[in-house]
Amino acid sequence: MDLIEAFKTRKSIRKFKNEDVDIERLVKIIEISASAPSGSNAQNWFVYIIKSKEVLSRMKNEAASVYKKVVGKDAPRVYTFFDEAPAVFAVVAKPYISGIDDVLENSDKSRSFARKFIINPGLQGVSSLITHILLACHNDGLGACWMTGPLIAKEEMENIIGVKKPDNLTALIPVGIPMERTSKTTRKDVSEIIKVL
Ligand SMILES: Cc1cc2nc3c(=O)[nH]c(=O)nc-3n(C[C@H](O)[C@H](O)[C@H](O)COP(=O)(O)O)c2cc1C
Repeated sequence: MDLIEAFKTRKSIRKFKNEDVDIERLVKIIEISASAPSGSNAQNWFVYIIKSKEVLSRMKNEAASVYKKVVGKDAPRVYTFFDEAPAVFAVVAKPYISGIDDVLENSDKSRSFARKFIINPGLQGVSSLITHILLACHNDGLGACWMTGPLIAKEEMENIIGVKKPDNLTALIPVGIPMERTSKTTRKDVSEIIKVL
């Protein structure tokens, strides 16, 4: 698929055909996506490929029950549909401390705070991996959706998957053969999102 075509036609897929996707195909998606850029080429990411229905069902139950506890209502589908996919990529961020962050930690607390929690280069690297995963899936005829909503139950899910501190679960990406989705989300006009200086 042409790259520009891929950018223009990718969309979040939230309904999947009842068909399996074999593990080799899923591993290949991650192998290709790992060409993504990261700060100092730290590649501070790790991906669990979850195919176990039992594990996915436990994760969904945690998302639903934590949502109910904190919001007082049943969780909307956008928090819980991931268990309907034949596989889910659970994307983990490993710590990334650049040389300058090490220096700032002791010399300038306010800049250090901004780098760590607002700029967060480690999380930006992991986000670039996720974008690559979405496009690699689309290129391969697979549907996918970037999800952070279910991580309302982040700690509970980390326990189920086996993610250990200091690593952090950052996103779930259900993946499968897409059901047809005709609508496409719109975007702001480019004039609204740029300023030339
Ligand atoms: C950081 C992030 C978190 C998201 N979390 C969810 C989510 O929890 N559930 C969901 O259904 N979609 C989620 N999405 C998908 C967005 O809703 C979707 O990308 C957006 O509406 C644009 O639609 P498109 O991807 O079809 O172009 C998330 C997207 C991003 C980038």
